[in-house]
Amino acid sequence: MSNGDGASPARSGRSVGPSGVTGAPSGAWADDESRVPENVVRQALRAEFHRARERRAGQPVRVLDVGGGSGSWAVPMAAAGCTVTVVDTSPDALAALRGRAVRAGVTDRVRAVHGDVHTLADAVVPGGADLVLGHGLLEVVDELSTAVVQLAAAAVPGGAVSILVAGRHAAALAQAHAGRLAQARTVLADPAGRWGDADPLQRRLDVGGLRGLLESVAGLSVELVQGDGLLHGWLPASVVEADPAGTGELETLMAGVPELLALAARLHVLARRPAP
Ligand SMILES: C[S@@+](CC[C@H](N)C(=O)[O-])C[C@H]1O[C@@H](n2cnc3c(N)ncnc32)[C@H](O)[C@@H]1O
Repeated sequence: MSNGDGASPARSGRSVGPSGVTGAPSGAWADDESRVPENVVRQALRAEFHRARERRAGQPVRVLDVGGGSGSWAVPMAAAGCTVTVVDTSPDALAALRGRAVRAGVTDRVRAVHGDVHTLADAVVPGGADLVLGHGLLEVVDELSTAVVQLAAAAVPGGAVSILVAGRHAAALAQAHAGRLAQARTVLADPAGRWGDADPLQRRLDVGGLRGLLESVAGLSVELVQGDGLLHGWLPASVVEADPAGTGELETLMAGVPELLALAARLHVLARRPAP
């Protein structure tokens, strides 16, 4: 995928990507072994994929997945015909991504780059991705502001940035729900929304904080805010198992209700880099 598109590694990026096997773009979202379930995030990304495909007039949509891990988002998007660059700090995750891409037959559309979001411009050419993903990333990075500025700069003007991040208020409720009242109090009191020193996450965000970060710090225009895992986190497994389609439909309805966003395990935002 060294075709000069903005999601390609810049010269200083270390590419560990595979090459060679050609898979047939389906134009639809194909599932691979990760079986990412249909949910509101996927629906929003599919809609953005179709918008970008129209803008690209037949050229492949360029996706940059930062902190993309083993490719649970990247590989299905490549199977749909996107060219996807995954930047991640973990060589093990990139190796797993490469294996998944081989098994899905999409190695010609997936590139794995060892790099860091804080220095993203060293790994990929800025301003060249139609869609930038930062899923499960902002809660683990050291410098939040730097990370969002870098993600925004990676998008082509008019392109989109998709952020999926742990929700702060739902974490407090989840701790209380599990009987860990002290941790629930700590999540509420801690500006970073952590439940203690052993918390594996650096932070959790609320809607206001996330919106402010993307708009004021990164200069993006927020177009969509929705809750992911809003219902499934709270319902007993037996209820979901009894009617998975019904709970899925209800969760889709609830995902966009602003008053319910605080209950969502993860917040999803789609924001756009202003066109010139
Ligand atoms: C929770 S996983 C999310 C994986 C994937 N995006 C998903 O949603 O399934 C976080 C990923 O971010 C990567 N990561 C952590 N810090 C990073 C950084 N500073 N720059 C780039 N990737 C980073 C980790 O190696 C890991 O693969």
